[in-house]
Amino acid sequence: MDIFDAVAATAYQQAAILIIHKLEEVPMKKILITGGAGYIGSHTAVSLLHAGFEPIIIDDFSNSEKSALEGLRKILGRELTCYEGDCNNQELMDRIFSEQSITGVIHFAAHKAVGESTKLPLKYYKNNIGSLLVLLEAMKKHHVKDLVFSSSCTVYGQPDELPVREITPRKDAESPYGNTKRIGEDILMDYVKSGENIRAIALRYFNPIGAHESAEIGELPLGVPANLIPFVTQTGAGIREKLTVFGDDYDTPDGTCIRDYIHVLDLADAHVKSLQYLNDKQDNFYDLFNVGTGRGNTVMEVIKAFEKVSGKALNYHIGPRRPGDVEKVWADTTKITDKLNWHPQYSLEEALRDSWNWQLALAKRAQ
Ligand SMILES: NC(=O)c1ccc[n+]([C@@H]2O[C@H](COP(=O)([O-])OP(=O)(O)OC[C@H]3O[C@@H](n4cnc5c(N)ncnc54)[C@H](O)[C@@H]3O)[C@@H](O)[C@H]2O)c1
Repeated sequence: MDIFDAVAATAYQQAAILIIHKLEEVPMKKILITGGAGYIGSHTAVSLLHAGFEPIIIDDFSNSEKSALEGLRKILGRELTCYEGDCNNQELMDRIFSEQSITGVIHFAAHKAVGESTKLPLKYYKNNIGSLLVLLEAMKKHHVKDLVFSSSCTVYGQPDELPVREITPRKDAESPYGNTKRIGEDILMDYVKSGENIRAIALRYFNPIGAHESAEIGELPLGVPANLIPFVTQTGAGIREKLTVFGDDYDTPDGTCIRDYIHVLDLADAHVKSLQYLNDKQDNFYDLFNVGTGRGNTVMEVIKAFEKVSGKALNYHIGPRRPGDVEKVWADTTKITDKLNWHPQYSLEEALRDSWNWQLALAKRAQ
């Protein structure tokens, strides 16, 4: 750690400690975060603690590393409770709910590699659907009502209207992974319809990017990244020789695909707002929200913005279209703005800057 890292870490810790001190008289509500060592889960743990919740993590580290917990400790200035294990394990889930007075759950834990899911569909159905069912049973047994579920804009496929609204009909899923998100939403809807005492929100994430500005936590793509931004930052860092842009003949201003890139800290904040919103709701409640910026950016715009913030010229070439890629999708965010009073705070450039700083921190660690 150099002097600048030390100063930055101390500033984050001081902020966290100050908040904890202010809140010490108020018992903090414990929120179970499944998959809390992962990319979005770890950032949400930071936002939850800053908002006065106590995050309790369960993770089996199938797609994350324990270094994420160390990163959280540095940012927050304290340890978080973490159970290592599989949230398909009913006994373990029972134990967590018995040992901790959990008041709500954010269910991130899932496998998420679209390509792998087409080759190993049962792995995806078993983990992504199985864990949701085990969780719902444990919540019922322990009288925990509030749940935020990680869904995805993948449920829209290539939508017939843009920007896409929550009432826009979902399309048949393009992959088993996408189907697990669609089924997960349906399970929650049916469960609430059955009269169960549960209050649930499904958040349909658009494309999360960026990292905590301390660069202590971020996205850890294992193997060759399938998402654009880790590929961009790894190419910028020289880990990948060049970036392939999959198609430049789409019906978009520069011919490359359009996505809605959202900073992971804005996304984390949407989970906090969701829990606060559920708190005022009657039992037996379900709703879903898009979480995007409401702006679409082409792949070429992302490349240019990355070059600007990093000062690096990116080695890229145009390749053929990739099968299964949606041409363009971005969110209508009216509903989440109106109902949850949630507004994204970060620009594309800020998000890319944070992704790049995270990549540089990873490279430093590897030395
Ligand atoms: N990152 C994205 O682009 C994106 C987009 C839309 C939706 N989502 C969804 O958001 C959620 C979080 O995504 P992420 O990007 O943080 O992924 P991630 O892989 O970084 O985090 C998921 C975490 O869950 C853990 N996990 C998986 N199965 C588990 C199990 N059975 N028991 C315990 N832990 C388990 C993994 O080890 C990992 O730490 C997932 O449900 C994902 O499908 C992600």
